[in-house]
Amino acid sequence: MEVDVNRRNGRNRGRFHLRVGLKGQREAVQMSSGVTNGASDGPAAKRARLEDKESEQATVSPATMTKVEDFLLPFRLSPEKLREVSSKLRKDLIRGLGKHTHRRAPVKMLPTFVRDTPDGTENGDFLALDLGGTNFRVLHVRVEESLQKVLKMDAQVCAIPQEMMEGPGEELFDHIAACLAEFLESLELKDKVLPLGFTFSFPCEQKDIDKSILIRWTKGFACSGVEGHDVVQLLREAIKRRGDYDIGSVAMVNDTVGTMMNCAYQDQSCEIGLIIGTGTNACYMEEMRHVKRVEGDEGRMCINTEWGGFGDDGSLRDVQTEFDVEVDRSSINPGVHTFEKMISGMYLGEVARLVLIEMTKKNLLFGGEMSEALSTPDSFETRFISDIEEESTGLEHALQILTEDLGLPATPEDCELVRLVCNTLSTRSAQLCGAALAAVANRIRNNRGLNHFTTTVGVEGTVYTKHPHYSDRLEETVKALAPKCNINFIVTDDGSGKGAAMVTAVAQRLAIPSTLLEDSDGDNNEDEEEEEEEEEEED
Ligand code: GLC
Repeated sequence: MEVDVNRRNGRNRGRFHLRVGLKGQREAVQMSSGVTNGASDGPAAKRARLEDKESEQATVSPATMTKVEDFLLPFRLSPEKLREVSSKLRKDLIRGLGKHTHRRAPVKMLPTFVRDTPDGTENGDFLALDLGGTNFRVLHVRVEESLQKVLKMDAQVCAIPQEMMEGPGEELFDHIAACLAEFLESLELKDKVLPLGFTFSFPCEQKDIDKSILIRWTKGFACSGVEGHDVVQLLREAIKRRGDYDIGSVAMVNDTVGTMMNCAYQDQSCEIGLIIGTGTNACYMEEMRHVKRVEGDEGRMCINTEWGGFGDDGSLRDVQTEFDVEVDRSSINPGVHTFEKMISGMYLGEVARLVLIEMTKKNLLFGGEMSEALSTPDSFETRFISDIEEESTGLEHALQILTEDLGLPATPEDCELVRLVCNTLSTRSAQLCGAALAAVANRIRNNRGLNHFTTTVGVEGTVYTKHPHYSDRLEETVKALAPKCNINFIVTDDGSGKGAAMVTAVAQRLAIPSTLLEDSDGDNNEDEEEEEEEEEEED
């Protein structure tokens, strides 16, 4: 099977063929990007060039290749398996939304109290805080109705030291309040009381737009005294302890929601936000009649799926490899965010490192010689995967990374095999994400009783944006699993900053009070079952 894939967004204008090779695995091979005349550019010429390219690179012996392919087989997901993953998630989306099933659901489907996307009338000055990775940012954002633009006026990055990520929560919030103070001081804004969008990209149970209880830390954070507490209150208390400035109304924002809202300001058909960076997650606009945990049936509300938790009930055991299990076991939060650990930037490099170690032990790489660097956790960074998969420079990068960064005696053959490992892991990641996105898109289409559904997804995250083939592989999977959905992807810029301001602006415009209802203990599944049946019929 060959599938032509044309690159979008100008990152790489070459053409690629995904071909099924040994044992049905797919491998991305670049067509020659040299200038050709029209006559020689037919399918036969393309195939000849492709074969030339392959034979040029075919330094790995067929016997070794067969062994490596066998070894990597557990990472290859068949179309049937991906379909299964997508349909399992679809069921989990329903479980997460249900009043009676939510408590035990691995995909939390958190109401965000964001009830609408921007309509263009938003206006004003906002502060934004962005906490969700290793850095923390403070921003001053202006929404200019007359220009229909969101302007990032100023921004400051503050590092969060590793000890602080695992220390007392009060110290973390004091640090945040101090960074904000310094920022306001430098802009002479300390005496202004501005509304604030707080992008806090961890699973939170929102009780309202400005009341948000941290369910659990993810992505390497483990500060004490924050889980189970209202993050807005912790922030306000830290600012009060200082007493030198104040903030106005606060809107809590997940990064997926900021991304969707930022994108929706440019393109009103955007109703899904997707992040594939340090972590992975998506949000989308759900019908209120299905958001059973919030009062009211009218209109829509954005749901933060927290799909990183998919599989935490063991439902992905057949997809997890021994390496995924090991990455989870040695992580700071074993058993939590199973899906994320197979996909996102925080873990992908580590999965690759464990695979490379095992291949070395089996004498498939580096003449069986290990290095101290390779045995050190996290030494194989996720960005190496993107670098190594670059079409023209990838093998050079591989040689440099393996020999210089990791001190390994790498041969050209090793470089090709490492590239194959990278390709295998990033392909799996993109396909899993694609399967998940297809579940969300199919759900929206079913919700609206549409035969065909066209929508835009706002995307951010370096795994998606920096990898040379990731977006193509993801899109290809979504197309196959959600054939009745026509999805347009827009890479947005700074959803966590500009998007947070947009969420705050829309919340001010709407200001509809609503209440999160009490969950029941999960004994009564009737409502959810009804919905499930309804969905099965519609499909
Ligand atoms: C983690 C967080 C989630 C966030 C995602 C992307 O999965 O739990 O809230 O959206 O990372 O940053």
